[in-house]
Amino acid sequence: MSNVPNRCPLTAVEAIDTIEKLAGLFPAYRRAHAKGIGFDAKFSPNGCAAPYTTASHLLHQDTSAIVRFSHSTSNPNPTEQLVSVKGMAVQFQLPEGKVTNLTMVTIPVFITKTPEEFIQLLQLFTSDKRLFSQKLSTLKNNPNFHAAFTILKNIIPPKSFGTGHYYSIHAYYLINDQKQQQAVKFEWEPIVESKNQTENTSLFTNRNALEDDLLNRLKDGPVRFKLLIQLAQPGDSIDDSTQKWPDTREKICIGTLSILGRRADNAESQVFDPTIVPDGILCSDDPVLHFRAKAYAESAKRRQNSL
Ligand code: HEM
Repeated sequence: MSNVPNRCPLTAVEAIDTIEKLAGLFPAYRRAHAKGIGFDAKFSPNGCAAPYTTASHLLHQDTSAIVRFSHSTSNPNPTEQLVSVKGMAVQFQLPEGKVTNLTMVTIPVFITKTPEEFIQLLQLFTSDKRLFSQKLSTLKNNPNFHAAFTILKNIIPPKSFGTGHYYSIHAYYLINDQKQQQAVKFEWEPIVESKNQTENTSLFTNRNALEDDLLNRLKDGPVRFKLLIQLAQPGDSIDDSTQKWPDTREKICIGTLSILGRRADNAESQVFDPTIVPDGILCSDDPVLHFRAKAYAESAKRRQNSL
């Protein structure tokens, strides 16, 4: 967990209150990424992480995992193709009942540097009645929202959960047995095999298109993703979610995730807090990363209390 001083004036209660006010209240659902589908999975490391970390699930043995794919909106019944950002949350099941999470999305950077700016941005986009193009120009002209402007302008929603590319956005430190630290970002890169390369053609007719597409792909065998680490070099920004590292930074594949079958409980009770890390991994000081822990706990408390 974080040893970062609490320098953030926004509380999780205020953030979730604001999300509920702006996006609507759907009591039993996650306050963001409300619609999702849960699977059992297996992670098979390939040994390539050994020089960087002592984290056992990234080293030599297969680890079972719970995976939830989601649409980022707070509405549990969205028009799927209009939700630009999709999520992939993976909870590795470690020995002695412990877990660790990688909770990623299909964009490589976040839209704001701080949680306060994120909530301001939500307010701008939901309560502002101007045209989308006018809101975009507000972003373009405000340096705090410049990253958001570039993302929103270029975003292409994935047509399938199984062919999306997912990014951790935040950096983490891997720590090896010599106590050396290497800052990395994680990515899930889809392995699109010819047997499940079919295009998802029902996007505009089926309100459950991405879920049905994934279940169809699974009929031909596991849907698989490579786990990549991208290695920072000196001078790369570690604690700013809006900064992408240069594409020239080395990426290493450290294992493969196989999505095996649907979970009967749909991963409803899981909380994929991205700050829960085992020995061998450390969170960066990114304020958005640390705020997520508090926001997810508050959202989980509210949805679980209403069941
Ligand atoms: C200040 C920034 C953020 C806030 C306030 C926020 C808030 C939330 C909340 C309230 C939930 C529901 C949690 C639950 O009930 O279990 C959630 C889920 C999620 N968030 Fe965020 N989030 C933020 C940033 C991010 C970032 C940067 C990413 C990606 C790197 C991300 C990816 C996800 C994903 C994938 C889920 C779904 C997890 C699941 O399947 O349970 N979020 N977020």
